[in-house]
Amino acid sequence: MKFSCYASDLFDISEEAVAVFCSKTAKPEGDVLEKIDLLTDGALTDMYKSGEFDGSAGKLAMLHRVPEMSARRVIVAGLGEASKISPDGYRRAAGSVGKMALAHKIKKIALYYNGPDTAQVTSALVEGLVLGSYRYFDFKTKKEDRDEVIEALAVVVPQKGKLRQAETGLARGEIISRAVVDCRDLVNLPGNELYPETFAAGAEKLAKTGKFRCRVLGPAEIKKEKMGALLAVAQGADHQPRFVILEYNGRGAAAPVVLVGKGVTFDSGGISIKPALDMGEMKGDMTGAAVVLNVIAAAAQLKANVNLVGLLPLVENMPSGRASRPGDIIKARSGLTVEIISTDAEGRLILADALDYAKTLKPQAVIDIATLTGAAQYILGYAGAPFVGTSQKLNDNLRTAAEVTGERIWELPLWDDFAEAMKSKIADLKNSGGRPAGTLTASSFLKQFIGDWPWAHIDIAYCDLEPKGLPYVPVGPTGFGVRLLLELILRWKKVT
Ligand code: BES
Ligand code: MN
Ligand code: ZN
Repeated sequence: MKFSCYASDLFDISEEAVAVFCSKTAKPEGDVLEKIDLLTDGALTDMYKSGEFDGSAGKLAMLHRVPEMSARRVIVAGLGEASKISPDGYRRAAGSVGKMALAHKIKKIALYYNGPDTAQVTSALVEGLVLGSYRYFDFKTKKEDRDEVIEALAVVVPQKGKLRQAETGLARGEIISRAVVDCRDLVNLPGNELYPETFAAGAEKLAKTGKFRCRVLGPAEIKKEKMGALLAVAQGADHQPRFVILEYNGRGAAAPVVLVGKGVTFDSGGISIKPALDMGEMKGDMTGAAVVLNVIAAAAQLKANVNLVGLLPLVENMPSGRASRPGDIIKARSGLTVEIISTDAEGRLILADALDYAKTLKPQAVIDIATLTGAAQYILGYAGAPFVGTSQKLNDNLRTAAEVTGERIWELPLWDDFAEAMKSKIADLKNSGGRPAGTLTASSFLKQFIGDWPWAHIDIAYCDLEPKGLPYVPVGPTGFGVRLLLELILRWKKVT
């Protein structure tokens, strides 16, 4: 998609279609809507009267050939109650506009914005339109199946004086939506194409074009690091593991914020094999790693004022004659021994070694993000991500970022009961505490491997995949966490 922004009167915009935004009212209100209504001899008034359109959130109205208007079509997009409009409301409205544009084969679209907070709203509009019109057709070979695409987006403001702000917002929105799109693309990529080696190669390639460093540890170096938990997960697969270390320097010698992402490129469950139904979705079990990679790439482009390290433990979890067995006892990098109850509880094992490795970095905070537990489904479903944390400040900062981005999270308690459930009779720990509170027993397992600094863990199982489609989240991989963590990083506040 090509992006631009310029200052113009609404009626002089000459893209194929222009969208304007309005809040909920009983009749067309405000300069723009009243003028359009007048010029169309009351077409909008008719729509309000019939209930076809009233500015409710998610509602859209399209008018063709409004007299005196250069654009052939105008789309009026509802934002809902005026008192409740937020940047995320603009993001959702722009997402709906994007979907309508695709349905009407509109290739070049303008979004007209006349209001406060131009930079922030422009960014939200770009994100909404790009993410709402996201389609994945890398594996579609027929031209007609690859046609659903918007080629150009312009954000238009009425006054020249607002242009600088709009440009700032446009640049920011472009980088943020690119990060989410790249994350969704990676998750869509099937396990036969994306495995530890190719994932790591992709990270190296991205680092070369960006402003961050990428170091890849192969099997021999992982052994040298004594990452016994990661290796126990990887040993059943023919595809060898990788451990990727990403580094972005935006703040001199400050201690880094470390982001850890679960990177299971395919989770069959191993010997504790999963049921066949929907097993293919487990190609997305590397979403955490894809989120971290793209957050660091975008933070580097946006010149975030922090030091960041990303840790991506990358493995494939497969059954074979070499695979770990239930009952095996392994030694994690930290020295703790773990009895494997289920080879399907593999995410916590690779994260344990990554969290322990983070200790070598003397971080100011560690945040991990992972499609960790099926039990997350019974907590918030697809509506948001449960999280735990050891620092009130870090938790608060995460909640602020969630509020701004619309990527919702909810804190759960780390009670001792859950740690109790992870004690093994014959080893230090076991890797499964059974069904009750599965998300929290998994979290408590991770807690055994963190250091003496603020830590948060976000479980994105389920909100990584959208089942029904939302205004700016089509059915499929959501990229949940990219905007959340990026927002946290961009407004980073010390937590100790
Ligand atoms: N990757 C899964 C969790 C998952 C399930 C994510 C469904 C998204 C959708 C994870 O590795 C897993 O299998 N967890 C098990 C743990 C259990 C064996 C203790 C689970 O949650 O069932
Ligand atoms: Mn699993
Ligand atoms: Zn998994």
